Amino acid sequence: MTDVLISALNGVIDPTSGQPLNKSGRIDGIDLKDGVATLILKPGADGEDIAALRARIDAALTALDGVERTRTIIETTLSRGSSKPQPQQSSPVAAPARFVIAVASGKGGVGKSTVAANLAGACAKMGLKTGLMDADIYGPSAPRLFGLTDVPGLKKENGGIEPLEAHGVKLVSMGFLVGERDPVVWRAPMVTGAIRQFLGEVNWGDLDVLIIDMPPGTGDVQLAVAQGAPISGTVIVSTPQNLALDDAKKAAALFDRTAIPILGVLENMSFFLCPSCGETSEIFGRGGVRAEAELIGAPFLGEIPLHPELREASDEGRLVVSGDGPVAKAFERAADAMLHQAAAAQRAAPEIVFED
Ligand SMILES: Nc1ncnc2c1ncn2[C@@H]1O[C@H](COP(=O)(O)OP(=O)(O)OP(=O)(O)O)[C@@H](O)[C@H]1O
Ligand SMILES: [Mg+2]
Repeated sequence: MTDVLISALNGVIDPTSGQPLNKSGRIDGIDLKDGVATLILKPGADGEDIAALRARIDAALTALDGVERTRTIIETTLSRGSSKPQPQQSSPVAAPARFVIAVASGKGGVGKSTVAANLAGACAKMGLKTGLMDADIYGPSAPRLFGLTDVPGLKKENGGIEPLEAHGVKLVSMGFLVGERDPVVWRAPMVTGAIRQFLGEVNWGDLDVLIIDMPPGTGDVQLAVAQGAPISGTVIVSTPQNLALDDAKKAAALFDRTAIPILGVLENMSFFLCPSCGETSEIFGRGGVRAEAELIGAPFLGEIPLHPELREASDEGRLVVSGDGPVAKAFERAADAMLHQAAAAQRAAPEIVFED
């Protein structure tokens, strides 16, 4: 089927090379699943009319049987900034899981840690061997979210650090090494060292998915993670307010410098879901994140409602996704979309290049 998709692009002229798109060498990957064709293109010339190109690709591909929608990811839009994306640096460690996914945001308090924990819980619920690495070494959340605030700490065993486990998820967090209220002051080289140990010296075992809960912003930890292990991609969490979204784009840009793909954008606190009547109210204006995701060419992974149960559960060390209410379902759908994108990104990795 991918051959058919690629041939259909013969009628679309690549504005950068002037060649038909399928002969332009720009196609980095193509995939069809559930009626959605995903096309990944290498960066084009600066100022290329991306919207027009997308529209032509959409027309060519949706004319085919079995293609209902298209999604064109252009690597330039994933790699803002002046420099071309550098290939991910050769990492000192092997990938600790089949999919290593960093959950990031530019702004603090958008619910990254809550989302990361529940995405990990959703993966475990699907039967995947799942780990969560709490990379927020300044303000770790995993101990509270997973109900492990009173643990003796991490042990060394079999030559590595033994992770803890809760709700079916293997866990490491700096919070297991220092008390919940201890202030932590780190120098940059120590940050890098701590993150490398978490990625490379934990007995993760044979994991399918490792979720990394990132601290807010774009500092040392982000670079240490990006350079510490092969990362499949990043999930950007944003709330519907515009400002949070602008910051999310900055977080995305940082990962782009190391050419780590954006697997998608997830909107948290999308709308208020009333716990007593089940009615929804769109307090911040819904849909803005979806529109922005489309603009930056990143998949939209779904909406998580604002629901008091999420805060209550985290205070009690429970995961909402362990239940089967509407919020749990929203996380399960988002996890599904995330894994689908991670698999697509892996297929689109440079070993498999669809070029003439
Ligand atoms: N969808 C939601 N509905 C209700 N409460 C939520 C939701 N998402 C997160 N919260 C609450 O918002 C607060 C902040 O969430 P969280 O700690 O996950 O954010 P964060 O982005 O990781 O923050 P930081 O930037 O400090 O790491 C927590 O009290 C959490 O319980
Ligand atoms: Mg957090």
